[in-house]
Amino acid sequence: MEYFLDTADLAEIEKAARALPITGVTTNPSIIKKAGAEDFFGHLKKIQAIIGEDKYLHVQAVAETAEGMVEDAKRIVAELGDHVYVKIPTTAEGLAAMKALKKMGIGVTATVVYTKAQAFLAMEAGADYIAPYFNRMENMGINSDDVISSMAGVIAMNDYNTKILAASFKNAGQVNRAIELGAQSITADPAILMDAIGAIAITDAVDTFLKDWKSLYGDKTIAEM
Ligand code: G3P
Repeated sequence: MEYFLDTADLAEIEKAARALPITGVTTNPSIIKKAGAEDFFGHLKKIQAIIGEDKYLHVQAVAETAEGMVEDAKRIVAELGDHVYVKIPTTAEGLAAMKALKKMGIGVTATVVYTKAQAFLAMEAGADYIAPYFNRMENMGINSDDVISSMAGVIAMNDYNTKILAASFKNAGQVNRAIELGAQSITADPAILMDAIGAIAITDAVDTFLKDWKSLYGDKTIAEM
């Protein structure tokens, strides 16, 4: 499994990256806007400095034509290096861009995926990752579980190298379902992942263990015994 943080908030990334076993950070123009990143590449470089050079950044192209997306992608890679996947919206122009980028050896994440057909075509176009929008599909009455498991089945049947990068989550239950249904990677707001491990029952249990320990040995840790 791979876990990505779907945010450009530097403080949140710093906090979550310390604890969580992440592969990298994913962004899109709305996430960049929310973080108030006026210096686009400067902000992305700060993210890279926090997560480290071995991790990956997924950055979205914004041009509206295939040719423009390819130029965006080339600039993204020139600025940020090769630990980068360029997110391309899965439209007709986007598919044309994906084919061109794969010929150039640039990593591609097919994004804004709401339908099986988009996903299947992006696999054949050579996308390294495909990002189905789990919660947004549910909002539209599309069966997200079915889309994810069907994608996993088609990837396996055809031996594609593509990974499912399930995205757009509103709670940990949705994340768990995507993983169980075959997503090889997920991206989520750090709050969703941190909340899942910080639930009251869990912190209560840890507090009780600590209280019992301290009643026997005071403030000493095991290393200090
Ligand atoms: O990674 C895609 C994601 O950012 C979309 O999520 O929460 O805007 O539906 P959301």
